[in-house]
This record gives sequence, structure tokens and C-alpha cells, in this order.
Amino acid sequence: MKDKRFKIIYLELTNACNFSCDYCPIDQQTRKKEMMDADFAKSIIDQIAENELTDFITFHLMGEPFLHKELAMLTGYSEARNLRVRLLTNGSLLESSRNVELFENNCTRLEVGFRTPNDTAFNLRLRGGKLTLDDYIWRVKGLIEDKIRTGASTEVCLKFFIRSHAAMLGMAEEYEHLTSEADNLKVANLFRDHTFEMARKYNVPIGEWSDVPVRVIDGEYFIFPGISLAFARIQEFWVREQRAQVEGTTFKAVVGGCSAAFRDDFGILASGEVTTCCIDYDGKNVIGNLHNISLMELLESREAKRMLRSFDFFIPPTEFCKECRGGPTLLSSVTKQVGTIAIDIKDRLAPRKHYRSLRNRLAKRDQGTLSTPKVPATPPAAPQAAPTPKTPVTPSRK
Ligand SMILES: C[S@@+](CC[C@H](N)C(=O)[O-])C[C@H]1O[C@@H](n2cnc3c(N)ncnc32)[C@H](O)[C@@H]1O
Ligand code: SF4
Ligand code: SF4
Repeated sequence: MKDKRFKIIYLELTNACNFSCDYCPIDQQTRKKEMMDADFAKSIIDQIAENELTDFITFHLMGEPFLHKELAMLTGYSEARNLRVRLLTNGSLLESSRNVELFENNCTRLEVGFRTPNDTAFNLRLRGGKLTLDDYIWRVKGLIEDKIRTGASTEVCLKFFIRSHAAMLGMAEEYEHLTSEADNLKVANLFRDHTFEMARKYNVPIGEWSDVPVRVIDGEYFIFPGISLAFARIQEFWVREQRAQVEGTTFKAVVGGCSAAFRDDFGILASGEVTTCCIDYDGKNVIGNLHNISLMELLESREAKRMLRSFDFFIPPTEFCKECRGGPTLLSSVTKQVGTIAIDIKDRLAPRKHYRSLRNRLAKRDQGTLSTPKVPATPPAAPQAAPTPKTPVTPSRK
């Protein structure tokens, strides 16, 4: 299948969130909190589909998509138009009826940003809600059960943090409460054990999957058909934004590489404004609003082309991009500038297929040939004890 113009498009259904994670600049938004009108969202999906702009779409940039009442309908609408939905959620609002509704609407992939493997990290996320870490884990376990019980084709991915490259080089904080390998392994093992328990409960063969060890890597791997664990590096720029540490303390980039900014992807905010990327949480790189102009006109606009061309020559086109590609010290800033250029050159010389492994899996799934995994050589990590499940409490939805 030929690659479409964009790898993915971020369509933010809402910029409101029921969490206030200490690593995400949610509270630094000056944007009005809003829900995108469902008919407007459909008209954007139509424009994306009719112009064959991408195969993959998300429903976030900032915000929690599960707060949008028409999420399942919009998922079904996109999938019916051949736009595969990669749906991200913080997981706090997961519940059985909603899970099944998303499965029935053919949601391609549901990613749970679990991210907080201990009470310290979890409690820092709460916006006055009553959810506990055990309740939160219980909700994710419920998703695993629903997936196995229904045999849904939706991929479920459970995501954790690992340290940034800068932290590994001693140039940035480790954010140990979020990246603790021991704590992440403990919860990851819990999810794996629950997966097998549910497989046994619903008579789904486990086969060689029990040989797959739970380990922390930089990447994603499957622990059962359609259920994966992913470990991704925490992005230090956003943590500093949330802590309001960026303004005046950043060594802004002079050069830098980036494949977003209308090359590989771009974002549409809940207001209808179009911006460069999923990093632009406050709409500082906005080039226009889809309430006033069509998507294709905006993509062909002088400003979109200026940004694209600027990154062709490794020049960050806006002040926000200079902050994003900069760092808190001169050394970290220079390292990031050089590093992002190196990655960009590598990408240009050997372009990666858009979401290659996901596409391969989807193709195999459609042909009914998706099989068991290649079992890694390392021995399985020792499973940890599971906490007692509790009745979930719905968190506040401010
Ligand atoms: C902004 S959230 C919006 C979707 C949803 N609320 C969620 O949490 O999954 C999108 C993704 O960004 C991730 N994220 C937030 N802050 C981050 C950071 N500092 N570094 C890396 N990823 C981050 C979240 O964990 C999530 O996977
Ligand atoms: S990461 Fe997601 S859940 Fe956490 S504050 Fe940001 S938008 Fe909300
Ligand atoms: S450099 Fe600019 S376009 Fe690229 S990710 Fe950062 S803010 Fe977005």
C-alpha cells in the first residue's frame, strides 16, 4: 500500500482533561477549554478522507478524548472512511460498556497512557478526583478482560515512561517517580498476569506467550495477541512547560530537525485551528482555522509552506519551535539541536514506512494470518504480587 501524504493527523476532540499529570502542560494552556462539535469533527474527517491525506488519525493533542460524548460514533465514522483510529486515553474513564462500544465501532488501536506506577506519581495526576492507583489499575484490568472476552480486534497498548536521553547523559532530571524501572515492571507484570488469568477464564489458549518476558525496553512488544506493553522516553520539554520552567531559562535552538510541521504530520485543535504538531499544546504555531477555510487551502497556504521549507534547511520556523528544539542548559540545547538534525537526516536518507509494523499487523489480521510471537531469549522476569481489585470510583471531570 502506498504511503499517504501524512503519517498521522492529530484531531483534538477536546482540550479539557480530568487529570492534571505533572509531566503534561495541560494547566499551562491559555486556550479556552472546549469540545469539538461532532458534525464539525465529521466534516474534518470527510476532508481528510476525501483527499486521502493519511491512513491514521488520533483524537487528541491535549485533553482526554473519553470526555467527548461522541467518541465512539466518531471512531466508527473514521474507520468507515478507512481512517484507522489510534485512540489515546489516560485510562481513568475506562468502563466496560464504553470499551465494547469502541470495539464495535472497529477502533483500530487503544493506547492507555498508564505512566504512573506508584502512589507518588499517581496522586500528582489527580485533579481533586477520588480515584486511587488500585482503582486505576482495576479499570485497565477491566479493559484487558473485555478485550479477551469479546475477542475484539482492537489492539490494546499499555504505556509506561522511561528516562529521556538527556537524563541518561546526566543532562536532565530522571523523574524517578515516573520512570522507576522496578515500579514499572511491577505494574507491567500485574497486567501480564491478569491477561493470562483472563485467557484461562475465557478458554483462550496461552501457548508460547507465557515465555515472553516482561522487560523494560525503548519500544513496544506484545505480551498476548493484540495486547502490548510500550515504554517511551519522557519528554523533558513538556515537563518543564508544566512546571513553568521554560520561559526565560531555555537556550533556544538556532538549528534543529523536525519531521512534523506539515511534513509527516500536523494537528487540528478543538477550536478548529490548525497547527504544526502534537507538541503545540497551546496553539502557538497555529496557521488558520477550519471554521473559516478548508483544510486543503490551509495545507497549501504560504505559512504552511514556509514552515515546511524552513525545516528543510534545519531552521526552526517559530519561537515555540526554537524552545522545543532548545534546552535548559547550553550543552543540552546543543546536544538536542545536533541530535534532532541527525535523526532528520537519517529519516530523509532512509524514510521509514508510515506505521510499518502496525500496518503489517493489520494486513495480516485482515488475512487471518497473525500468529504467535518470536519469543525473546532472555528469561522471564519474576511476576509480582497483584493488589486486590476494588470497586472503581469515577474521578471528577473538571
Ligand atoms: C497529552 S496526552 C492526551 C491523551 C490522553 N489524555 C492521554 O493521557 O493519553 C497524549 C500523550 O502524551 C503523553 N505525554 C504527556 N506528557 C508527556 C511527556 N512529558 N513526555 C512524553 N509523553 C507525554 C501522554 O502520556 C499521552 O500518551
Ligand atoms: S497526559 Fe493526558 S491525562 Fe495527563 S494531563 Fe495531559 S492530557 Fe490529561
Ligand atoms: S520543532 Fe516545532 S513543529 Fe517540531 S515538534 Fe517542536 S514545536 Fe512541533
